[in-house]
Amino acid sequence: MAHSESSVREPVTLRTIRRMARVGEPFACLTSYDAVMARWLERAGVHVLLVGDTAAEMVLGFERTIDMPLDVLIALTAGVKRGAPNTLIMADMPFLSYQADDAEALRNAGRFMTEGRADVVKMEVDASFAPLVRKMTRAGVPVCAHVGSRPQLAGLNGGYGSAGKTDREAASILKDAIELEKAGAVLLLVEAVPAEVTQRILEATTVPVIGIGAGTACHGQVLVVQDLLGMNDHVPRFAEPVARIGPAIEAAGREWVRRVRAREIGGALYHLKRDENTSQSESPRVETVTPARKSKRRSK
Ligand code: KIV
Repeated sequence: MAHSESSVREPVTLRTIRRMARVGEPFACLTSYDAVMARWLERAGVHVLLVGDTAAEMVLGFERTIDMPLDVLIALTAGVKRGAPNTLIMADMPFLSYQADDAEALRNAGRFMTEGRADVVKMEVDASFAPLVRKMTRAGVPVCAHVGSRPQLAGLNGGYGSAGKTDREAASILKDAIELEKAGAVLLLVEAVPAEVTQRILEATTVPVIGIGAGTACHGQVLVVQDLLGMNDHVPRFAEPVARIGPAIEAAGREWVRRVRAREIGGALYHLKRDENTSQSESPRVETVTPARKSKRRSK
């Protein structure tokens, strides 16, 4: 893949993120599921790319994140890393890739790091997963503990929603964050909780905290990239689109349909040319006329 000058930057590592959190410089995280999007987002200066299990919805068209196949997410993670080699890549461990058995969880996390080239793996967890996080940390797997609202529990909770709105729930999420940091989590991701709950987490822990619908005080903020780009018909309450790429894609698609129907596409790029020593009766060879701007991929 060709890299322009603008895509070359100092690699963003966990150290970068820790330093930014320490000095109070917010860092930006977005989901990404493919190399091309990842390349643009790295050029934009996004610090962390999350290959989320939201790929089940955004890429595969499922209605639930729990439908994300492990092997597919590992392959997507590798693609994102290839597109954004200087960005911290965080991979989501999909439903039942870590809950059933610790040894299986470790191996799956290892696959994300080796086959998927992930820098960090993320798991939706509470304090009861602290022993697993400890094992992963001991094995050298950097873990981001996703607390608060946990979409993989939607079946149990009767749907997606917020969390931590009662004192009891807030206290339990705070305890989760503390225990998971103690177990070795290098990052926390807090989803859809009142800002006061996040504030307590920030006061009680030392690792960088990424928020999604969790208030402005977090060290970093994350969003599903299609929500940011205005590509989804329905977005969560906390998503604020900054572009309207969906309608722009629709307009481009319509224009393509129009051009094809008007026979404006497929004009003369290739011309027949006779070899000098080929007799009239032999077949002429086809000469390729390469248009000015051709990618390596299409030059055949
Ligand atoms: O899977 C995902 O995209 C996520 C974010 C929404 C935080 O977990």
